[in-house]
Amino acid sequence: MAFIELIDVHKSFGDNKVLRGINLSIEKGESLVILGKSGIGKSVTLLVLTRLLPLDRGKVIINGIDTTDLPEDKLIPIRKKISYVFQSGALFDSLTVYENIAFPMIGEGYDEDEIDKRVFDIMDLLNISEFWDLYPDEISGGVKKIVSIGRALAANPDCILYDEPTTGIDPYAAKKLSEVIRRINIDMGITTILVTHDMRCAKIVADKIAFLHEGVIYFHGSFGEFVESDLPVLEEFKGSLPYMAKYLKGG
Ligand SMILES: Nc1ncnc2c1ncn2[C@@H]1O[C@H](COP(=O)(O)OP(=O)(O)OP(=O)(O)O)[C@@H](O)[C@H]1O
Ligand SMILES: [Mg+2]
Repeated sequence: MAFIELIDVHKSFGDNKVLRGINLSIEKGESLVILGKSGIGKSVTLLVLTRLLPLDRGKVIINGIDTTDLPEDKLIPIRKKISYVFQSGALFDSLTVYENIAFPMIGEGYDEDEIDKRVFDIMDLLNISEFWDLYPDEISGGVKKIVSIGRALAANPDCILYDEPTTGIDPYAAKKLSEVIRRINIDMGITTILVTHDMRCAKIVADKIAFLHEGVIYFHGSFGEFVESDLPVLEEFKGSLPYMAKYLKGG
């Protein structure tokens, strides 16, 4: 059974028909990377998936539960199992790295020792323990992104959604971050859905690529199949990307 299933999902804003019949199925533990041109609806797809945005038509099924018509209070426990790493990272500036990561655990019935152990386990896993008592404006952009992933992990999710996690950090930090995301996916079995324009990130993270075009999933396959595909729309997209030439030559 698929873990997350989008069936014929439609979403418009006024006359702007953004999603026009998205069909997508994600298995438990799978890592799916969503690609597509800017403004095509990648972020909207993540938002309707978590039902942070209502959909116009279609179904969103999560772990066998049809969430389409669920009231807000019934959505809350489902959303708790799906952490969202926003592009900005959105850390709390007045909290330390430790406190930012601990934040989702507060009020969830953990005692102080449990919180402490879990926060340090997560910081160890992500190699950021040395920064535990620093504030967001004292750490680099790359480390901030990793802390925001740590905070997502602290919520003990089954699935993490990442919207352009490597945007705004240097290529070396972006590669490291992509490796962290993949490690979390494989070692912890966390289902991963990631939106990016960064092909190096896509190559490291993806089991499958879903390419969004004109409101539908135009292509669904492995990264290798994506690179090999000669569909004209994909050729045009790939031609516009930095780093892609290297991969087309198999580098
Ligand atoms: N809340 C909203 N109200 C109105 N229109 C919206 C809203 N959110 C998104 N849109 C529109 O939906 C379309 C898809 O937006 P979306 O943010 O999903 O694009 P994207 O593929 O994530 O682009 P990018 O790669 O630039 O982040 C755009 O035309 C955008 O203007
Ligand atoms: Mg977006």
